[in-house]
This record gives sequence, C-alpha cells and structure tokens, in this order.
Amino acid sequence: MKKLYIETLGCAMNVRDSEHIIAELNKKENYTLTDNIKEADLIIINTCSVREKPVSKLFSELGSFKIKKKDGAKIGVAGCTASHLGKEIIKRAPYVDFVIGARNVSKITEVLDKKHAIEIDTSYDESTYEFEDYRSSKYKALINISIGCDKSCSFCIVPVTRGEEISIPSSLIINEVKRAVKNGAKEIVLLGQNVNNYGRRFSTNDNGAKNFTQLLKEVSKVEGVERIRFQSPHPLHMDDEFLEEFANNPKICKQIHVPLQSGSTKLLKEMKRGYSKEWFLNRCNKIRELVPDVAISTDIIVGFPGESEEDFKETMDVLEKVRFDTLFSFKYSPRPHTPAASYPNQVPSEIASRRLSTLQERHKEIQFEQMQKQVGRVVKVLFEDLRSDGKIAGRADDGRLVVVKGSEELLGEIKDVKITKAYLTQLEGEISGV
Ligand code: SAH
Ligand code: F3S
Repeated sequence: MKKLYIETLGCAMNVRDSEHIIAELNKKENYTLTDNIKEADLIIINTCSVREKPVSKLFSELGSFKIKKKDGAKIGVAGCTASHLGKEIIKRAPYVDFVIGARNVSKITEVLDKKHAIEIDTSYDESTYEFEDYRSSKYKALINISIGCDKSCSFCIVPVTRGEEISIPSSLIINEVKRAVKNGAKEIVLLGQNVNNYGRRFSTNDNGAKNFTQLLKEVSKVEGVERIRFQSPHPLHMDDEFLEEFANNPKICKQIHVPLQSGSTKLLKEMKRGYSKEWFLNRCNKIRELVPDVAISTDIIVGFPGESEEDFKETMDVLEKVRFDTLFSFKYSPRPHTPAASYPNQVPSEIASRRLSTLQERHKEIQFEQMQKQVGRVVKVLFEDLRSDGKIAGRADDGRLVVVKGSEELLGEIKDVKITKAYLTQLEGEISGV
C-alpha cells in the first residue's frame, strides 16, 4: 500500500478538494495517509492564493519536501496557486512532478503518471462529476454546491483561479447528502464561494432547487440530517426569504458569515461588492432581530487602495454596531490579475498594520464580552473531539467551541450543555440533566 502526505492550505473548499483528491487516488490504488513526509510515496500540497503569504509558503514548503522526500517519491501541487501559476511552478521548482488546478481535481489520476503534467483549465466543468466518497470527519460532511465565482471583487484572485460559477444540480447534492447521512454524518456543511447565489447557472437540466433557499429546504427534508451549515454567503444575496428560512428552519445552525470587507460605502464600490454600509447594517440588524442568539462572523480587509482614516472609521463603526462574534481580518495583499493591484493610492504597509491591530484589539474586547454572555445559556453541542484530559469538545449550534467533562460515548452525540465558564475562544459547560 502506498503512502500519501497531503497538506491543505486555505478555505473549506480546499479542504473538500483534498478529500476529493484522496477519494480519486484511492479509486486507482490504495493509499494510506501519513504525516511523515519521509515515508510518503506521493506528496501533494493543495494551495491557496488569496493572499501573498500562502504563495510564498508554497515555495518554501516545496524546497523542504525536496530535501526530505524519499527516492522516487512524487511531488504534486494542487489548488488555486496551481491554477494561476501553472508551468511557472515547474520552472521555479523543476523537481515538482505535476500541477493540478482547483477546477481540475477530477483529473488527479490522469496527471499522476505524466511527468511535468499541467492541468489547470479554469473553464473545465466539474459541476456534474460524481467524486468517490472520502471524508476526514465522521460526523460533519462538507458538500460542494457550486464551483467557481461569478463576482468580480476587485481585490480577489478567486474568479481567476476557480473560473466562472456553475451550480451543482440539486439531485446530485441531495444524493450526496443521503450518502453522507448513511455513513454517519449528522451535520451537513454546504460549500461554495458564494453559496446564496446558488442557481445562477447550471450546466445540465435538473428539476430540483433553483435557488439557495429552496436548496436549504430540500436538504433539511433528508431524513437523518440534524444540522445544516453553509459557507460562505454574500451579503448582497441575503434577501428576506433567505433570512426567514435561516431563522425558521430548526435544522439550520444559527451561525452566519456575513463578509463585510469594508465599512466605507465608497470603498465597497471600489471593491465592487455591490452593497453599501447601510445595506450591510440593515441585513445584520434583520438577522439579529429574527435570531437573537445568532453568532455572526465576518471578513474585513484593511489597507485597501485609497483607504483613508475616515474610511477606516466607517469600518470600526460597523464593528461597534454589529458586534461580530468572530472576525477574520486581513491586511490588503495585492494579487496578480486583479484590478485593485494596479489602483493608485496603495496604502503604506505600516498604516495598514496599525489599522489591523486597532481593529483586532477592539474586536477582542467585543468577542470576550459576547462570550461572557453565553454563561448560563443551554446550547446544543455536537461532540467530535475526544481530548486526552478526560474532556470532550464540540461545536454549539452557533458554532462556538464547547468543552465538557466526558468520554468517547459522547462522540457523535448532540447534547444540551449548560455553559458555566467563558474564555475568549472557548466555552466550558456541563451536560444538562446529568
Ligand atoms: N467567497 C469566498 C471568499 C474567498 S476569499 C468565501 O467563500 O470565503 C476569503 C477572504 O479573504 C475574503 O472574504 C477577503 O476578506 C479576503 N481576501 C480576498 N482577497 C484578498 C486580498 N487580496 N487581500 C487581503 N485579503 C483578501
Ligand atoms: Fe472573491 Fe468576491 Fe468571489 S471575495 S471568491 S470574488 S465573492
């Protein structure tokens, strides 16, 4: 049996792509996974290119793979950086055996035996390809509902690396949900770069769901599905119908990612996000009104070209008004093939760093206060992670990490937990009624 070392960088879609790679490889010959590069027969790095950092990490990782790998072991580069750098990867690192793009995962077994194969066609349509089953989590099933992204946010390289958006027919999604549940999954995580734009374009006829709200309804009807999450929606497509389904469908977890990017309407326009500060605040208010216990997370970029102190204050204002439960914040990173990279008025790095720390420091205080409010609540937790110290951890319905005393019989169970203590990123509690 051969050994596979696979490293995954980036978003949840990359995690799913790596699962697809493993599944497809196993169709050809049996691989076992290893954490030890030295014993691997095949080494794959599944890359992210959304910011500069992971791209430079790729080349340093490749250098270390070359030194550590055993004789005859192959090295492959997959994912978004593979898509946009293509043959340049082999030019810079000639010991790389193959390059396979984020939209070409189904071709993994074809490239495996071709020296210096490069498979990076971003118009390739994998939306109806039925991948073999492989899941790294027993209770949580990641399921793609679309490929690519049709937006053109001026800072973002994803439309270049993942191509145009195509929705996966709902009949295929529902079949996958049914298979996942049969294999023990309790939680379904629907994935796309833009999930609530579902139904924008299909490559085949399908009589099922034509929009995201309908898809949520269909998925929730599948017997055995206990929880549904989705990642990531776009604020622009958060219409009332969708928010009401989110609020009223008991299977949908009350956690939602609403990526802000900037609080300045002027910058949002330059980012080509399609919404204003007011629209964003209106949607978040509506979410909190419909679901008072909801957890809202967001993505914010600081130092986008032209960002003034005033623009940054608008972002801080949204932070104060929405009080996000979780924040993912980034310093703007100019990316190749994106319009914003050549905008004038690039913000000096020191200013962007200072704004990033101001934002993060204030958010930490808000996050701590939001976490303290959890004490005394009873929340539903799906237990997945057995710890060595007699404790077991899982996620509450709202996505928060909860740890209780317990052992393996709790694995895969959903239980009511009374929260007794709150830290910045995790809660402690006791199982109710025990
Ligand atoms: N729709 C996607 C977004 C992918 S990129 C999703 O499903 O998550 C994830 C986040 O990275 C974006 O929301 C944005 O905040 C950040 N990002 C994208 N391009 C960036 C850039 N050039 N510089 C800094 N951050 C960026
Ligand atoms: Fe990127 Fe905007 Fe799509 S952030 S992934 S272009 S929605």
